[in-house]
Amino acid sequence: MAIQETDYDALFSRYSATNKGYLEDEYLAELLQSLIDVAPLSAQSPHQQMNTKRKLLRMKKSIKMPIINRGTFLRTVAIDSVIESFLDSFPNEKTQVVSLGAGSDTRVFRYSDRPNLKWIECDFEQTVKLKKCAILNSRKLRTCIGINEELPANHEEFKSCSPTIDTPSYLLHALDLNELTDFQQLNISDAPTIVLAECVFCYLPDSTCNNILSLLNSSLSNCSFLIYDPMGGEPTDNFGKVMVNNLAQRNISMPNLMKYGTLDAQNARFQALGLNLNAALATIDHVMETWLSREELARISKLEFLDELEECKLLFKHYCLIVLFKGWKPEQNFQVRTIAKSNDE
Ligand SMILES: C[S@@+](CC[C@H](N)C(=O)[O-])C[C@H]1O[C@@H](n2cnc3c(N)ncnc32)[C@H](O)[C@@H]1O
Repeated sequence: MAIQETDYDALFSRYSATNKGYLEDEYLAELLQSLIDVAPLSAQSPHQQMNTKRKLLRMKKSIKMPIINRGTFLRTVAIDSVIESFLDSFPNEKTQVVSLGAGSDTRVFRYSDRPNLKWIECDFEQTVKLKKCAILNSRKLRTCIGINEELPANHEEFKSCSPTIDTPSYLLHALDLNELTDFQQLNISDAPTIVLAECVFCYLPDSTCNNILSLLNSSLSNCSFLIYDPMGGEPTDNFGKVMVNNLAQRNISMPNLMKYGTLDAQNARFQALGLNLNAALATIDHVMETWLSREELARISKLEFLDELEECKLLFKHYCLIVLFKGWKPEQNFQVRTIAKSNDE
């Protein structure tokens, strides 16, 4: 399915940004190589198996433009920073991060030394199975997660293996988000929770996003959301139209790119749901301008030559970070803050 392939876009972008020195991630190269090694398990014939591996090796070699590396860096550090702010608000309590459409995200490994934290991930079955196999195939990742199962030996075993990993600190399971009807499908407890949707809501219909938000908000006593998505801009803006056309060529659609094209439209969207959550919203351009220290900005500016700074700013204005929260407060500088009426955060 084309939509699952978007995970590879995110993975290889992170790989490129790490290779160029923007990000440090001791698990990324290991996960990526392990995914390449196990990917043939998902294909039936030897020919398809070879093609699957070749395609990933080709993607691994592809060079990303400096503007993409910088965007990947900003997206990653911005999300990390809000997650850390959430975790630091509950230093002595059990906490949960629920990552929807987690794909090949490495945060579960990167945050594995946090005490009292349970990391829950879901995605389509095929994606989840491959991630599980990649973990089983790597001693480093297996040890980090603390599992010891046999890796499927061939396609038949892959087809019949369980996609689930279930340890005290990690739950990985298969779920089509369009089919979420009961929060218990996610196996969440009532500990303070932040639900991460990193570049996922943009691929889902409104009805699915609203259902996820309402269901989790009403089922858990302390649930916040962290959403990162592209935005199409104002109706007259060309950015969204170009993006929609490019994606259509790959058979991928972003149903709400234009409908929620600006921060104000995104804010109105979430306020209309009446979730009684506070909201904080910022574009990634704003993150670049105000969240990074002068030293960090100077460091990344030296990594690659980037002459189109205006183009860069314009691109980053089309990506947003949204936190819907209660029971704690993200300390970062946001452009829009809306306080829920009966919530005095
Ligand atoms: C652009 S990738 C982002 C992956 C990851 N969140 C990241 O940022 O690295 C989008 C992910 O959402 C997943 N996804 C899209 N629609 C989904 C659905 N209906 N149910 C479960 N996962 C879905 C895709 O399989 C893919 O892994």
